[in-house]
Amino acid sequence: MPAPQVPYSLAPRTLAQQLERAAALHSEFSARRSCRAFSPREVPRNLIERILEIAHTAPSGANLRPWRFVAIDDPRIKREIRIAAEKEERESYERRMPQEWLDALEPIGTDCRKPFLDVAPWLIVVFRIDWEPVGDKRRKNYYPNESTGLACGLLIAAAHMLGLATLTHTPSPMGFLREICGRPDNEKPFLLIPVGYPAEDCTVPDLPRIPLAQRVQWNREAPLPDAR
Ligand SMILES: Cc1cc2nc3c(=O)[nH]c(=O)nc-3n(C[C@H](O)[C@H](O)[C@H](O)COP(=O)(O)O)c2cc1C
Repeated sequence: MPAPQVPYSLAPRTLAQQLERAAALHSEFSARRSCRAFSPREVPRNLIERILEIAHTAPSGANLRPWRFVAIDDPRIKREIRIAAEKEERESYERRMPQEWLDALEPIGTDCRKPFLDVAPWLIVVFRIDWEPVGDKRRKNYYPNESTGLACGLLIAAAHMLGLATLTHTPSPMGFLREICGRPDNEKPFLLIPVGYPAEDCTVPDLPRIPLAQRVQWNREAPLPDAR
């Protein structure tokens, strides 16, 4: 049965207000960077809860919210995650990644060491839930990948707007996260997101952003060719 309808409207804004807000938001979002050097400064659990609440508002296929957030501040669990992640990453950097991938990562300057997994006050492990047990049957979730990606985007944006740094981390393969977090096999590790404050001496690589005009097509006008 369809759900009852409720009124929906948004706060009215003039175009001038919208453009002013857009400029401010663009400037704020442009300042977001992936952080790989965190301060041990504490972040209270209720602030992390607020961020998860915001992420949980994301749209999702058939409104099924196919994600699980595991929020970790227990130093023993963070340590376990660091050890397991570094083990996989060492194997990847030394043997599994093709040269093309290593070349793509070179400007970012990452390697198999992940000290931030110990130092960041919180690790949020995001799982994608592909299906859920209902009685003795499986109920499929729709578009779990897209939905979980959207929830992560909101999570990262919310953290940034609250003055917290994040890293979108994908130690590969990530199966160890399911075991460490004690999640069942219908939940697939999706992203590992450390959250906290940047270390005082934190630096980030000065990376160019591909110009938007190369990534947008208006109607049938060809976008600018990719200059890279
Ligand atoms: C799906 C995805 C996976 C990523 N995995 C890693 C990772 O495992 N380790 C890492 O240091 N950065 C990772 N990143 C961060 C990217 O390197 C980073 O977003 C990119 O270099 C642009 O930098 P910026 O986020 O500071 O703008 C990942 C980003 C995305 C979206």
